[in-house]
Amino acid sequence: MSVDELKQLEQDQLDYFTEDGHRVYESQWKEQTGRIPNEIAQPDQEFVALDIGGANGRFSDRLLAEYPRARAVVLDNSEYLLKQNIPNDRKTLVLGSATEMPAHLGDQKFDFIFVNCLLHHLVSSSYHSSRNVIRGVLQDISGLLAETGRISIWENIFEGAFWDGFPARAIFEITSKRPLAKMARKLGANTAGVGVCFLSREQWKQELEAVGLTIRDSGWRPMQLPLYQRIPLTIGAIGATHIWCGHDPEL
Ligand SMILES: C[S@@+](CC[C@H](N)C(=O)[O-])C[C@H]1O[C@@H](n2cnc3c(N)ncnc32)[C@H](O)[C@@H]1O
Repeated sequence: MSVDELKQLEQDQLDYFTEDGHRVYESQWKEQTGRIPNEIAQPDQEFVALDIGGANGRFSDRLLAEYPRARAVVLDNSEYLLKQNIPNDRKTLVLGSATEMPAHLGDQKFDFIFVNCLLHHLVSSSYHSSRNVIRGVLQDISGLLAETGRISIWENIFEGAFWDGFPARAIFEITSKRPLAKMARKLGANTAGVGVCFLSREQWKQELEAVGLTIRDSGWRPMQLPLYQRIPLTIGAIGATHIWCGHDPEL
């Protein structure tokens, strides 16, 4: 797809993801990387990781510090955030969109692919086209993964008490309409006027299966939301999910 169709956050919205605003918390770090030792033969084994939407690279920095022979590629479409990376000989920065990874990464294969809080930012002109963009990116991620590789996806979840997908769909409509941007900002949406496309855990499972990926493990970290937001959106479950997946061994 053409990058022009993809909506991008303004610099003040990206500031939320810089050093002080967005850290890799200890529990998230353990959840996302705790299974790596089971996947590699020994701690000093060489492997290559891709961090899509890797921003200032702090996640990759820590990975490289813990695994001395690992290499990392940090891909982000924000030059502003990529410039905040700490240089490292084993880290490569790629300025480009997740929607154009085959053009940027060629036929490289990755042992681990991290997709932390990125997929819900892949917003296009409508809900339907945004879902198509997300599906296309998941397809590309599957193509970049080594045969025995693993993908770690960290996503925020807003599930409905009555209809699983309702709150996330309502959040998409409220955040993606420019005339509603002021209201969305007041409700605390950093993505006001641009849009954000959250999916439920069941929807993520279906999306991954559709591109031949199988969930091997998952984690759940519940979060709180004030009642004035929770009730109108009929939110039943809110939190962050971690999905650890790989190629479907049956295919
Ligand atoms: C919520 S931040 C997450 C940053 C980091 N992964 C983390 O978890 O701290 C989303 C990141 O995705 C990047 N991003 C948004 N759309 C993108 C796209 N189409 N291609 C590549 N990166 C994108 C943003 O620039 C930002 O760095």
